Amino acid sequence: MIYMDNAATSFPKPESVYQAMDDFNRLVGANPGRGSNQQSLKAGSVMVEAREALARLFNIDDGSQIALMPNVTEALNVGLKGILRKGDHVITTSMEHNSVARPLYALSRLGVEWTAVQCDNNGRLDPGDIKNAIKANTRLICILHVSNLTGTIMPVQEVGQIARENNLLFMVDCAQSAGVLPLDVKKQHIDLLAFTGHKSLLGPQGTGGLYVKPGIKIEPLKVGGTGSLSEFLEHPQMMPDLLESGTHNTPGIAGLLAGLRYIEQTGVEAIRAREIKIAAMLWDGMKSIAGLRVYGPDSLDDRGAVFAFNFDDIDCGEVSMTLDYEFGIISRSGTHCAPLAHKTIGTLESGTCRLSPGYFTTEAEVLAVIKALEAISARK
Ligand code: ALA
Repeated sequence: MIYMDNAATSFPKPESVYQAMDDFNRLVGANPGRGSNQQSLKAGSVMVEAREALARLFNIDDGSQIALMPNVTEALNVGLKGILRKGDHVITTSMEHNSVARPLYALSRLGVEWTAVQCDNNGRLDPGDIKNAIKANTRLICILHVSNLTGTIMPVQEVGQIARENNLLFMVDCAQSAGVLPLDVKKQHIDLLAFTGHKSLLGPQGTGGLYVKPGIKIEPLKVGGTGSLSEFLEHPQMMPDLLESGTHNTPGIAGLLAGLRYIEQTGVEAIRAREIKIAAMLWDGMKSIAGLRVYGPDSLDDRGAVFAFNFDDIDCGEVSMTLDYEFGIISRSGTHCAPLAHKTIGTLESGTCRLSPGYFTTEAEVLAVIKALEAISARK
């Protein structure tokens, strides 16, 4: 099997990730923050160390401002629903994933105003359009860092600057970029950073979270047991407990911690350099195939390793099935939970097939994928 769907979830993980999860399940097993027995304390230190490793990666001063959650969708829902109120205006882009678009659609029915700034047909955003969309009641700007459809890298730094100059909150969805592209909440003026653990942070599924800058008032989506201030019926107001009710996926967090350590040891720059090398090879091969169109920006400086494509006259689902069943290549076809982005690039009706290599993709695998695409092209 050749795995080319790292934009959906990274595979394989570093060996240390599998080992850490197994070790946690077999040797620790306890519930973090629930009691002061030694095993619970060990589980608690996994949570703390994971928050600290994330804080180092994103240049966050205080790891306890990071709430660990099951996924980035929950983090984005908390960031949007926990902050926006009736009468507030929020600005996003036309490239957002449904994890932003659907909560905002729901909020818009409750009186929140929403502007999705139009990107060009390569998914590129002009930061000036964000500035022009600001109104007296604008409260928040929320954009993704890298598109899960076109791989387009968004101008986070420039948009962060605009948010800062206009006293607006700035939330970034780094589902497709954390661990591959540099992220610095201070330099990029990010107030809320929503991340997933199972993509380029190399952890397991069921992990993610939200950084909230100190001083921001945010309401949780759920309240309940936190293992802290248990004598009070009122839910704790301090981070991370405010946004972390219920038992965690601690085995998953142990895996995420191992993924973060792997990234720390390897270095984000080296990971991005590897991504560019493999992406260039795949992209060059794809561009040389007759009747195959790749969407998105035309420079690797402006994109991550995500390649949405279509053959002129073959349905994207058929391409994906052929790659899988005939050639053993895993891709993803359809609308990728991103109908707004598909509309932006003109593929809402057709969908696209998508290939997304990862850190462990080899040159030999890329060559095999190119050969398979050539064979499909030759059959037309
Ligand atoms: N959002 C993920 C993807 O693009 C799951 O496949």
